[in-house]
Amino acid sequence: MDHIINHSFDAIPKSYLFSEVARRVAAFRAAHPESELIPMGIGDVTRPLRRPVIEALKKAAEEQAHADSFHGYGPEQGYDFLREAVLRHYAGFGVRLALEDIFISDGAKSDLGNLPDLFSENCVVLLPDPVYPVYRDSNLMAGRKVKYLAATRENGFAPLPGKDTRGDLVYLCSPANPTGAAYTREQLKLWVDWALASGAVILYDAAYECFIQDDLPHSIYEVEGARECAIEVCSLSKTAGFTGMRCGYTIVPHELAREGQNLHDLWLRRQCTKMNGVAYPIQRAAEAVFTAEGMAACKEDIAAYLRAAAIVADTLDELGVWYCGGKNSPYIWMECPKGLDSWQFFDALLEEAGIIGTPGCGFGEQGEGYFRLSAFSGEANARAAMERLRAWLQS
Ligand code: MLT
Repeated sequence: MDHIINHSFDAIPKSYLFSEVARRVAAFRAAHPESELIPMGIGDVTRPLRRPVIEALKKAAEEQAHADSFHGYGPEQGYDFLREAVLRHYAGFGVRLALEDIFISDGAKSDLGNLPDLFSENCVVLLPDPVYPVYRDSNLMAGRKVKYLAATRENGFAPLPGKDTRGDLVYLCSPANPTGAAYTREQLKLWVDWALASGAVILYDAAYECFIQDDLPHSIYEVEGARECAIEVCSLSKTAGFTGMRCGYTIVPHELAREGQNLHDLWLRRQCTKMNGVAYPIQRAAEAVFTAEGMAACKEDIAAYLRAAAIVADTLDELGVWYCGGKNSPYIWMECPKGLDSWQFFDALLEEAGIIGTPGCGFGEQGEGYFRLSAFSGEANARAAMERLRAWLQS
């Protein structure tokens, strides 16, 4: 044997993007303990869990203390009470799913990173650039070939398939992380038609669907034919503040098959082997998100994050800085001012204005010269950060 280590790790950056940002911020804090930094980097929620969720969590935790209501290992695809709630959520978009299509997970990141287990190592993976680095890193780690679709200002950061587009798997995220760009139904239909014609599979990340305010698709299954070519991944992290709870859902339609293999069956086989599900109290808390009371509370939080995004957007408009996103998305994707590259602007904002953001180049080569600000920090922080940015730009 000439080697025992997976040398494909050489193909990815040494640190995960948000770990690198955290490392640089920690070094700055250590050198400047008096600094008061405003966190607008990683998309982590700041508003606490809502009452219906907490009550469900407490009740389920108490159940675990009694022999007659104790739950051990749960059903492989998640409890039916939660899968039925997800089914009803999709019905709200006019999408009819079968219960068997729904898999409860510990969040979108793990499933997006693990779904490539279903596909050959020789698959060619298409990724928009810039892109959520999990798609890129997890495929490069597995030694797959990755090809990039430039997401640019010209195409509204929403690349579409052309006659020369070739690939076996394509990842789409709408509204997109990091740019906030969202596909229309007509645009998604182009991807679905392309995948049906070519035999490719779409891995669709809907983690930010709850931010959609305009008449845009919340699910790829709003497009006819998507069940035969797409897997959809979603999470309660952004919808309901579950980043610290860990719960999401993945839809693998039972119709989806390639080369005589049913992808739903393969995913079930994979999950049964490598995962033991999500904790019962967390699934009960997730169920509460989908009640009328739970959803109304989550919508208030989303509206508050969108108000924070609007504060950033209005300030950038006033300052004449180019940006997109922030409307159907918690992310604002801005051009780095003063001709700085992404990491230079990151350093300048951190050191001279005390604002933490995310350098656009961390999401891909096309992200160089751009910067992402997250509105999850909330309205007060957004307002304070924009005052600091205004002062910094005018200094
Ligand atoms: C981000 O900041 O891009 C997200 O928080 C990452 C994630 O959801 O894992």
